[in-house]
Amino acid sequence: MRHLITSALPYINGVKHLGNLVGSMLPADVYARYLRARGHEVLAICATDEHGTPAELSALEAGLPVDEYCTKMHEVQADLGRRFSLSFDHFGRSSSPQNRELTQHFAARLAEHGFLIERVTKQVYSIDDNRFLADRYVAGTCPHCGSDKARGDQCDSCTRVLDPADLIKPYSTLSGSTRLELRDSKHLFIDLPALGAEVRAWIDSHRDDWPTVTTSIAYKWLDEGLQARGITRDLKWGVPVDRPGYEDKVFYVWFDAPIEYLGATKEWADQDPAHRDWKGWWQGGDAVRYTQFMAKDNVPFHTIIFPSTIFGSREPWKQPDYVKGVNWLTYEGGKFSTREHRGIFMNDALELLPSDVWRYWLMANTPESSDADFLWDQFAAQINKDLVGVYGNFVNRVVKFALSKLGPDVPAGGAPGEREAKLYADLDGRVAELCRHLDEVAFRKAMQELRAIWVEANTYLADAAPWSAIKTDRDRAACVVRTALNLARVLAILSAPVMPVTSHKILDDLQVPADARGWPTRPMAEELAVLPAGHAFVDGGLLFAKIEDAQVAEWAARFAGKPA
Ligand code: MF3
Ligand code: ZN
Repeated sequence: MRHLITSALPYINGVKHLGNLVGSMLPADVYARYLRARGHEVLAICATDEHGTPAELSALEAGLPVDEYCTKMHEVQADLGRRFSLSFDHFGRSSSPQNRELTQHFAARLAEHGFLIERVTKQVYSIDDNRFLADRYVAGTCPHCGSDKARGDQCDSCTRVLDPADLIKPYSTLSGSTRLELRDSKHLFIDLPALGAEVRAWIDSHRDDWPTVTTSIAYKWLDEGLQARGITRDLKWGVPVDRPGYEDKVFYVWFDAPIEYLGATKEWADQDPAHRDWKGWWQGGDAVRYTQFMAKDNVPFHTIIFPSTIFGSREPWKQPDYVKGVNWLTYEGGKFSTREHRGIFMNDALELLPSDVWRYWLMANTPESSDADFLWDQFAAQINKDLVGVYGNFVNRVVKFALSKLGPDVPAGGAPGEREAKLYADLDGRVAELCRHLDEVAFRKAMQELRAIWVEANTYLADAAPWSAIKTDRDRAACVVRTALNLARVLAILSAPVMPVTSHKILDDLQVPADARGWPTRPMAEELAVLPAGHAFVDGGLLFAKIEDAQVAEWAARFAGKPA
């Protein structure tokens, strides 16, 4: 099967926090790694979402022209992604020429089929700035609570949604000028009501197989009634609108961003056009299965608005076969906040602990059926228990015991007995379950099963107790150690989608040849005999270090957040 995978595109403005990571990029990566391990052809696509006012504002703050700012931040994010082992086949940029061309293409197709409406709207114009001001560039006094820090779209003090025209004493946040006026400006709107029936029929067809967060948000939108949505803005930074009368306008960031899924695929193909067929992925019909990953605030864009762009184009582009929406990850009972720097950001996280540790915790606590909370105490307890106490302990203990008591190679010794037969049977069942959960993109269940497999391995070792056996029956001890070393190989492979660095290390220490690193698809009786007697291996040292209480206290204080 060919699998196309996309993660919601991270905004360019700043390093992403763990809440962003768990919502889209990380689960997409785990799924992609799993499918590759199962032998599927996978194309995993992500990119930075570079247009819109947040990018302009952050560039202004950084004192850089917006295009330079984006180039710089794209590299920062790409680097952090690599250090988090995010294995995208391509990490693109929504400001690419490929995306510009495709965005204009989609607008033209929508227009051709009668799905674009032109309307004259009133927009705030700043005489001194000599430009229209997006909602976020207008500030003033809130008509509801009197706060003097309300923005054109929202008041942060009382959280009410505002229209720039509501503000008392409005001023431009660019220049401070109060010489503002409302001017007419024409804009393009996508006719969502005209496409609503098609979208609803499509959502209906997935009602039973998509996550409830996804379908419930989609139906909420459909049931409340769709309205035409503006797809252009009076801004400079963005994809230019290529039609007369729109010279100073660009497409709205949420119009061009999802199109970048295709744009990034074309960027990827353009690097090696002889061997890469981007349209084959996007117009591949049922031969391609397309899975999208995102947090719940992105669901309306991926189930209603972008699908309308695709339907309205009247071209055979793929719609997603599965939309994996997830809830929020919160931080110590509150929101992760980029503006207040509250919570843990990708760069901070890597300073504290290896990426695999974060990856494991995040996937084991994915906010699938409800929101989940990151709590330092619970985090440390879970890492110490699952990774240090169970998984790491098993591998480290077996390797140490084997080398110290039975020599530098996998020992020969007796034939497997009853306890091994039970182990094979238990694991055969559990591995099948793990695969089923991963196939169903159910990460919490998959991580529970993975943990149960680690526990199974530890229990086997405790029951078979080679340290006792060796005193009376060296052959029996050797059989257990041989089985356990093979078990370490299997655990490493099964854990690789979520903890690739650790798995790689274990397989290297065990000197497992490349052709013996594939997903275990044979019965465990065979999989646990892959490393034969006489196979050499080394002790690579401790896999996971215990997180101490003092560290938890220090980190909790350090990431409590500072006021904006
Ligand atoms: N940048 C958006 C966010 O972080 C997500 C864009 S997803 C895409 O919420 F589909 F538009 F690409
Ligand atoms: Zn207010």
